[in-house]
Parts: sequence; structure tokens; C-alpha cells
Amino acid sequence: MIYQVIIFSAFILLSAAQLGALVNCPTQDCNSCDSFTGFLWQSGGSGQCQIVDCSSGSFPKQNLSDQFCGSCSSNAHYANQNGTQCIQIQQSCSSNSNLTDNICSLCNSQTPYASSDQTKCINSTASCSSTSGWTDSNCILCNPQKPFASLSGFSCVDSSISCSSSSGWSDADCAKCSPSSPYSNQLKTNCVASTQTCSSASNWTDYNCNLCNPSKPYAATDKNSCVASTISCSSVNGWNDSNCQLCSPSAPYSNIYQTGCVNSSIKCVGRDSTKANQVWTDNDCVQCYAAGYKASKDGYQCVDCNATTGMNNSQCALCNGTGQGANQYANSQGVCVAVNCDQQSGWVDSDCATCNQATPFASQNGSSCNTTTNSQILIIFIFIKFIFLLL
Ligand SMILES: *[C@@H]1O[C@H](CO)[C@@H](O)[C@H](O)[C@H]1NC(C)=O
Ligand SMILES: *[C@@H]1O[C@H](CO)[C@@H](O)[C@H](O)[C@H]1NC(C)=O
Ligand SMILES: *[C@@H]1O[C@H](CO)[C@@H](O)[C@H](O)[C@H]1NC(C)=O
Ligand SMILES: *[C@@H]1O[C@H](CO)[C@@H](O)[C@H](O)[C@H]1NC(C)=O
Ligand SMILES: *[C@@H]1O[C@H](CO)[C@@H](O)[C@H](O)[C@H]1NC(C)=O
Ligand SMILES: *[C@@H]1O[C@H](CO)[C@@H](O)[C@H](O)[C@H]1NC(C)=O
Ligand SMILES: *[C@@H]1O[C@H](CO)[C@@H](O)[C@H](O)[C@H]1NC(C)=O
Ligand SMILES: *[C@@H]1O[C@H](CO)[C@@H](O)[C@H](O)[C@H]1NC(C)=O
Ligand SMILES: *[C@@H]1O[C@H](CO)[C@@H](O)[C@H](O)[C@H]1NC(C)=O
Ligand SMILES: *[C@@H]1O[C@H](CO)[C@@H](O)[C@H](O)[C@H]1NC(C)=O
Ligand SMILES: *[C@@H]1O[C@H](CO)[C@@H](O)[C@H](O)[C@H]1NC(C)=O
Ligand SMILES: *[C@@H]1O[C@H](CO)[C@@H](O)[C@H](O)[C@H]1NC(C)=O
Repeated sequence: MIYQVIIFSAFILLSAAQLGALVNCPTQDCNSCDSFTGFLWQSGGSGQCQIVDCSSGSFPKQNLSDQFCGSCSSNAHYANQNGTQCIQIQQSCSSNSNLTDNICSLCNSQTPYASSDQTKCINSTASCSSTSGWTDSNCILCNPQKPFASLSGFSCVDSSISCSSSSGWSDADCAKCSPSSPYSNQLKTNCVASTQTCSSASNWTDYNCNLCNPSKPYAATDKNSCVASTISCSSVNGWNDSNCQLCSPSAPYSNIYQTGCVNSSIKCVGRDSTKANQVWTDNDCVQCYAAGYKASKDGYQCVDCNATTGMNNSQCALCNGTGQGANQYANSQGVCVAVNCDQQSGWVDSDCATCNQATPFASQNGSSCNTTTNSQILIIFIFIKFIFLLL
């Protein structure tokens, strides 16, 4: 009877015993191996251990370990993190290098992605190898050295503030968060695509001023700052004094045509020259009008000494002086000439022509200029008489 039982037992062992694969336990003593109800470990030589018979108990559904999975699970050699399954991965769930998204997702569905340095599994909402859709929370999980998502979300960056911040910006952070808008605006509330830093002290353009500080949208005339003028400092019309003062403090007044700013002593536009402190000076006439202008004697106005029409005697004398032969007189067209066109005597033909091309001939006694000479009148008179004689 006992003999039969032994034979029967031996038959079961021979027919069903499943010897486990060799695995490493904490020490070479197989008593150090994890224990599993219904399973025994034995030494397999060379310091390794194996389950004596993997079919000796029901396969565990809890507390599985790498040792058991390695010995009794033929192609799934590692236990998942909560010990409920043996899984087919290349390394243990407890390893801290070379982790991949695949390993992490199989080891623990709560932390399905490998960190950027592959040293741990994390609960980010997307893979650390993503090339878009980054958020700050995923960035800091994937790589604490680059804790913020770039503005485009294409990558994580090591800026000092979140790329979605609305204050505290610096050029360095802008360059990291938004390479296409690499400068902080002047209020440090945003990054802008200016072509130079908003803290620049030169080379300003309207384009950059408007981006860096919309409340000072125009580059000053010297380009060293931005100003709150209402027109561009490079405008060629529409000037007034307040814009000139802002654009060019050294030329604070609009010229008389409002085409630019000048360094006159007082304002050009709206000047009341009847007030003693606002009379015109030669310099102000040049500044406010143009080169070639002079102040009238009374200081009430500026005279265009280059004018080739509309001049009167006092203006010609002012512009050309009153010396011998100076063009101190105005002719009938308002051109300055050297002949006194108001004279009552002494007329000669050439002077008459100079003073008025319509009356180029002097009368006989030189008291006036006429359209025809006396001799011409005489000839016409004789001619008419002759015709009457023929009739
Ligand atoms: C699993 O391990 C825990 C704690 O180590 C223990 O309380 C529990 O009984 C184990 N479960 C099984 C099925 O061995
Ligand atoms: C990680 O992988 C690299 C190359 O794939 C390998 O050289 C290295 O030995 C691995 N490290 C571990 C701990 O498996
Ligand atoms: C154990 O982990 C697996 C895979 O991560 C998961 O599907 C399962 O729900 C977990 N079970 C428990 C009890 O936590
Ligand atoms: C990740 O886990 C932490 C706690 O460990 C939790 O506060 C956080 O909400 C989780 N994040 C995600 C994206 O699941
Ligand atoms: C200003 O601009 C000019 C030409 O664009 C450049 O050569 C110069 O270096 C700039 N100066 C500064 C201070 O940026
Ligand atoms: C200049 O023009 C702006 C608007 O173009 C106006 O607001 C401002 O008051 C004007 N200043 C003067 C001094 O006329
Ligand atoms: C402006 O004019 C005054 C006197 O007319 C002169 O002293 C000053 O240097 C001028 N300023 C500039 C910037 O040209
Ligand atoms: C007037 O003439 C002067 C030379 O005498 C010249 O420099 C200036 O540009 C002229 N002005 C105008 C408005 O033509
Ligand atoms: C010359 O013309 C100016 C401007 O029209 C005028 O103010 C001035 O009185 C005139 N002078 C003479 C002598 O006619
Ligand atoms: C007098 O003024 C006119 C312009 O009105 C100018 O063409 C001329 O050269 C000046 N003549 C002299 C002698 O200054
Ligand atoms: C010149 O002749 C005109 C008539 O042609 C005459 O009225 C005038 O008084 C004369 N003047 C002189 C100075 O002789
Ligand atoms: C010349 O014209 C004046 C006035 O225009 C006139 O009084 C005079 O008679 C004229 N002299 C001659 C010779 O036609």
C-alpha cells in the first residue's frame, strides 16, 4: 500500500512538476526569497534559486514579485508595481534607469510615462517625448530642470517664471518662452517681437516703440527714446508744438508750415507779433519759414527775400539793402530791381522796361512810361491821314 502511494506520488511529480527558472534572491540562501503559499524554493546552484514546482499551488493574484514572476512566468519576467500581474517588459518595475513609456504604463497605469531622464515613472498627462501640447504641470513632472511649457507648447524651458505669466517678464525669460517674441515689453507684462530690447537707449523705431510701450508709440527724433506724441516723429506734416516738444526737445516748435520742428526762440504758429515779446527776428524767420527769410523792420512779419513776385519797395530794400545799384525797388510785377519805379521824372526806355514790360517806353520829357514811343504815335497819325487823303 505505502509502496503504491510512493509510486503514485512519483508519477504525479514526474508527469506534472514544473521546475521554475533560476532567479536571484537577496542572498544566496534561498530562504531569503519571497515566500508564496503553496510554493517552495530550492537552490539551483551558482547562487541562484528556483521554485521547486510552479504548478504546486494556484498562481498568485497578489503580492507577486520579480522573483516569482522570473521563476514561474515563462515570458513575463517582472511583477507589475502592485503585484497583481507578471508583465512582459525588459526590466524590473523597481529599476531607476532606462524606463520607457511602455514599461511605465505596464508597471502602473497611474504613472504611465517615463520621466525625461528615464529614472522614474510619472503621472503626467502626456509622454515626456511629446513635441506639442506641453503644460507647466507636465513639464515639471517630466523634467524639474525645465519646469515651464513654452508659449507655443512645443517644449519645456528653464525660464524663471511660467510662460503664461502676465507680469515679471525679463528678456531672458521671453527668449526662452517665446523665441519669436524675445523681448519683455517695458511694463514687463508681455513678450514682444521688437527687433531690439525694450530697455535700449538708442536706435528706436516707431515699430519697436509701439510694441514695447503702446502709450509711447513713436520713436523720438534722436531715436534714443519713445514718446507719447500723437504723430510719428518722422512725419512730414501735421506738426504742432506739443508734438515737437515731445519728439525733439531741442527743436520744440512746429515751423509755420507744420512740416517739421525748429529751434526758434518762441513759437512760430500762432505767434502774435503785435506783442513786443513775440516780434519776429531774422533767426526766427529763418527757423520758422526757411533760409532766405528776414524779419520786417517793425518785426510784424517775415519777408521771403527769394521771392520773385509780390515784393514792395520796403521789402526789396529790406532784402537787398539800399546801396548804389542795389535791387531795393519793386517793379510792377513785385520783382526787386535797381530802378525806382515810382519816380516822376528821368525815365529812359530801359528803366521803363525794367519797371513794367507793358509800358517799355519813356515819354518825351521823361515824366512817364508808355506803351508806344512818341515817334510811333506820329507815324500812325501820318498813316491814318494818308489813308484819309486817298479816300
Ligand atoms: C500580500 O501582502 C500583504 C502585506 O504584505 C499581506 O497582508 C497579504 O496577506 C498578502 N496577500 C497574500 C494573498 O499573500
Ligand atoms: C540603459 O540602456 C543603456 C543603453 O541602452 C545601457 O548601456 C545601460 O546599461 C542600461 N542601463 C541599465 C541600468 O539597464
Ligand atoms: C494594479 O495595477 C494594474 C496595472 O497598473 C491596474 O490595472 C490595477 O487596477 C491595479 N490594481 C490594484 C488593486 O491597484
Ligand atoms: C499626479 O499625482 C499627484 C499626487 O501624487 C496629484 O496631485 C496630481 O493631480 C496627479 N496629476 C495628474 C496629471 O494626474
Ligand atoms: C544701431 O543701429 C545701427 C544700424 O542699424 C547699428 O550699427 C548699431 O550698432 C546700433 N546701435 C545699437 C546701440 O544698437
Ligand atoms: C497737437 O495735436 C494733438 C492731436 O493731433 C492735440 O491733442 C494737441 O492738443 C495739439 N497740441 C497743440 C499745442 O496744439
Ligand atoms: C537753439 O537756438 C539757440 C539760439 O537761437 C541756440 O543757442 C541753441 O544752441 C540752439 N539749440 C540747438 C539744439 O540747435
Ligand atoms: C533762398 O536763397 C538762399 C540763398 O540765398 C537759399 O539758401 C535758400 O534755400 C532759398 N530759400 C528758398 C525757400 O528757396
Ligand atoms: C509791403 O508789403 C507788406 C506785406 O504785404 C506790408 O505789410 C507793407 O506795409 C508794405 N510796404 C509798403 C511800403 O507798401
Ligand atoms: C535782390 O533780391 C532778389 C530777390 O528778390 C535777388 O534775386 C537779387 O539777387 C538781390 N540783389 C541784390 C543786389 O542783393
Ligand atoms: C511832360 O509832358 C507831360 C505831357 O506829355 C506834361 O503833362 C508834363 O507836365 C511834362 N512834365 C514836365 C516836367 O515837363
Ligand atoms: C504817356 O502816358 C501818360 C499817362 O499814361 C500820358 O499822360 C501822356 O500823354 C503819354 N505821353 C505820350 C507822348 O503819349
